[in-house]
Amino acid sequence: MDALADSSTLSALPSPSLYLSGFGTCVPEKVVTNFDMERLTDTNDEWITTRTGIRNRHFLAADEQPSDLAVRAAQQTLANTGVPLERITHTIVATCTPEYLSPSTACVVAQKLGLRHCVAFDINAACTGFVYALNVCQAFLCADPQACILLVTVEGLSRRLNWKDRSTCVLFGDGAGASLATAQPLNIPGHLSAKLQSIQCSSDTECWDLICVGGGTHEAHVLGDSVSETFFVTMQGREVFKHAVRALVSISLEVLNKEGLSVEDVDLFIPHQANLRIIEAVGSRLGLPADKVFVNVGNYGNTSASSIPLAMADAFKQGRIKPGMKVLVASFGSGFTWGAAVLQF
Ligand code: UT7
Repeated sequence: MDALADSSTLSALPSPSLYLSGFGTCVPEKVVTNFDMERLTDTNDEWITTRTGIRNRHFLAADEQPSDLAVRAAQQTLANTGVPLERITHTIVATCTPEYLSPSTACVVAQKLGLRHCVAFDINAACTGFVYALNVCQAFLCADPQACILLVTVEGLSRRLNWKDRSTCVLFGDGAGASLATAQPLNIPGHLSAKLQSIQCSSDTECWDLICVGGGTHEAHVLGDSVSETFFVTMQGREVFKHAVRALVSISLEVLNKEGLSVEDVDLFIPHQANLRIIEAVGSRLGLPADKVFVNVGNYGNTSASSIPLAMADAFKQGRIKPGMKVLVASFGSGFTWGAAVLQF
């Protein structure tokens, strides 16, 4: 018999607790408006605003690296929690724009933080990186409840934009988020933390080539070669749009159903911030009133794995997340990958 066919032993495993705290974020200082975009490519503010809801995005400065953003976000997290650096056992970075193919951005971030010995590696689930990383943290915490995981998301998408592809280059921005994942609550006075109540991840690998970030080993290069279009972000926007709406709606319902919850139980929905029209379509198909759907895509563009952490941080600042609230997060990205989680604050 197929060993996996008998799922009774698998379902009998305890569901591990995961608490998330110390939410830190960082975006580059450099703000690039739609009007700035008009000087970089054949576009205009009116098109970008009406088709995407994006007005500004932040781009790395020439002498700034994604890991610098990640370190600033992580330092905020450590300061917010009061957890000493030596207590960190794992550094996990979700990114689809790593600084190098190897070593991982996690190793670079840990070194810059002064964290010499820890488990350190990257996860690439593109825009779904934060949700996938939560799932991976949950597994580590099940194996080692004493673990203290620094979960970082960071993207430097501005480094892979093709200014000749106007339908794609106007969409993305750079940014980082960080938090600590532990098996026990940290209980920090004056700071919100969340318990992971439900999580569900998925993919459809048939569509892997509809969004790509180039620069990998699929192309052979010799020293001195120039790069081609596939070195940059490429996307079939219209196709992606349709898949994104369907997947975000279905995964949101799945993750709620898994815990016997319904859409009415959701106090705030924080979807991946890629396009205002996608966000509105998903919110309305789920039957959520607009005031329960958080939107900040206008200020950052699509920051891929960092979009939910940046949105959560803005939601805290605006007082939109309060103790006792259930927050549904859901994301969709290249792969295609998608996932959702329910966080109980
Ligand atoms: O994070 C991963 C998930 N990613 C996404 O969720 C992105 C999903 N897709 C989208 O958000 C949208 O498809 C886009 C924003 C990328 C594009 O919007 P659209 O409404 O699907 O536009 P389109 O690609 O169908 O293009 C419509 C028109 C075209 O002109 P014609 O052929 O109708 O004359 C484009 O050439 O808009 C033109 N266009 C632009 N015009 C001015 C495309 N990009 C631009 C631009 N400025 N930047």
